[in-house]
Amino acid sequence: MLQYRQIDTDIVDQNLLLMSTIIKTDSEIEKMRIAGKLASEVLDMIEEHVKPGITTEELDTICHDYMVNEQDSIPACLNYRGFPKSVCTSVNHVICHGIPGEKRLKKGDIINIDVTVIKDGYHGDNSRMYHVGKPTILGQRICEVAKESMLIGIDMVKPGVHLGDIGHAIQTHAESNNFSVVREYCGHGIGKGFHEEPQVLHYGRPNTGMALVEGMTFTIEPMINAGKKDTRLLADNWTVVTRDHSLSAQWEHTVLVTATGYEILTASANSVHP
Ligand code: MF3
Ligand code: CO
Ligand code: CO
Repeated sequence: MLQYRQIDTDIVDQNLLLMSTIIKTDSEIEKMRIAGKLASEVLDMIEEHVKPGITTEELDTICHDYMVNEQDSIPACLNYRGFPKSVCTSVNHVICHGIPGEKRLKKGDIINIDVTVIKDGYHGDNSRMYHVGKPTILGQRICEVAKESMLIGIDMVKPGVHLGDIGHAIQTHAESNNFSVVREYCGHGIGKGFHEEPQVLHYGRPNTGMALVEGMTFTIEPMINAGKKDTRLLADNWTVVTRDHSLSAQWEHTVLVTATGYEILTASANSVHP
């Protein structure tokens, strides 16, 4: 119970964050639908190329050329804060921000491909897991649980729901499958900016954090580890791996808060939805 003149700092924090969160207009939303669809179509396109023997650099080149030449979109990752490639490729125990390179994929690997495009000034950001050849039992399970975690989080989105409710639902699903949730990296507001307010944590407590408002656009992108939640940043200053070298999986969509719920902006022929 608050006393007279005492300030509820959580409400103050929530209001300050809300002021720095950009509510999109209808014309901005239309542009984000287009950018989101393009980002998702890159993930549709690359699926058939994810085969044993291909290198992550070759996957990067195929995605790059498709964005630039077929879509007339800009690969947002290229040169973003010095990132050297056009997409992120994170294999097995790599959690996120893997840099495409000489590494050849082999049967049983799992790989996250994370694609962000810019079209007409707006971003669409999404990622999926792919199996290389026949999956292992654990590889299959962790990709499935990471996907379900994202979908459960998305399905909670509507005005008035708190970010902590979403984080809590994701965390509960992952942990009830004996997996862990990465803490150091999170979803984010998105629009003209690649990473805008708010931060969207994939763990948390119900009824805490910002309440959602119609017109917000953000990503939900849980990173789920088979072992412990702890991370390590490699010397390249980008690649994030599980400290215990356990497998890790991630799925990502960009979503819009609508009057009654949500719309997935990174939608295309082969994208997965709740
Ligand atoms: N696409 C990633 C995200 O989901 C960010 C990648 S930043 C990069 O937010 F520089 F590594 F490409
Ligand atoms: Co993102
Ligand atoms: Co992304």
